Amino acid sequence: MSIFELIYVVLLLVIMISVLISFHAERKTKVVPAPTLRHVRNRALSLIPDTFDRNGSYKIIDLGSGWGGVLIALSNLFPNSEVVGYEISPCPFILSKIRGWMRSKNITVYSTNFLNQNISDADIVFCYLSPNHMKQLAPLFSTLGAGKCIISCAFPIPEWVADSEDRLSRYFCNTSIYCYKTSGPKP
Ligand SMILES: C[S@@+](CC[C@H](N)C(=O)[O-])C[C@H]1O[C@@H](n2cnc3c(N)ncnc32)[C@H](O)[C@@H]1O
Repeated sequence: MSIFELIYVVLLLVIMISVLISFHAERKTKVVPAPTLRHVRNRALSLIPDTFDRNGSYKIIDLGSGWGGVLIALSNLFPNSEVVGYEISPCPFILSKIRGWMRSKNITVYSTNFLNQNISDADIVFCYLSPNHMKQLAPLFSTLGAGKCIISCAFPIPEWVADSEDRLSRYFCNTSIYCYKTSGPKP
């Protein structure tokens, strides 16, 4: 076997293993690691209230940060803030970690289940998940202090009233973005 054949076989194995790991993670999380489309992401980030100064220092979290696109956009928008991603699926986690290292110093990505995290000190929370995740996350969102902001793409928080709902329609894709401003921890 030549060196080229060996590289080819190794690459093929890496791709096959990555696909298998991704399928396994997807079955566990019940959500595809699909990135937010660029135009949806841009609109979602534009909904962050002006009370959040772009040069301010905040804790910003992407729950299920996928391949890291939203983390990078957030870190560009808030260069002095701490931008944190939680991602349970190994392949997106590794890639987003590398992208974070290469692109920005204020991004930290953790390979962990966000449902077990304390997010009460977050100022801005972003997510693009599923109805079931939103139901599970409602108690965590209730721990946020007053004046914080939650942006959810596509899925609302059950039984919460959104401060705004933006409907987007483009490329056969209709979606809503929900923005919530918190009023303090709920019992
Ligand atoms: C639809 S993707 C969104 C990715 C990214 N936030 C974006 O908007 O581009 C949702 C991600 O959440 C991750 N995820 C789902 N449940 C999770 C959990 N309990 N803990 C951590 N990550 C989770 C999935 O692996 C997936 O990558």
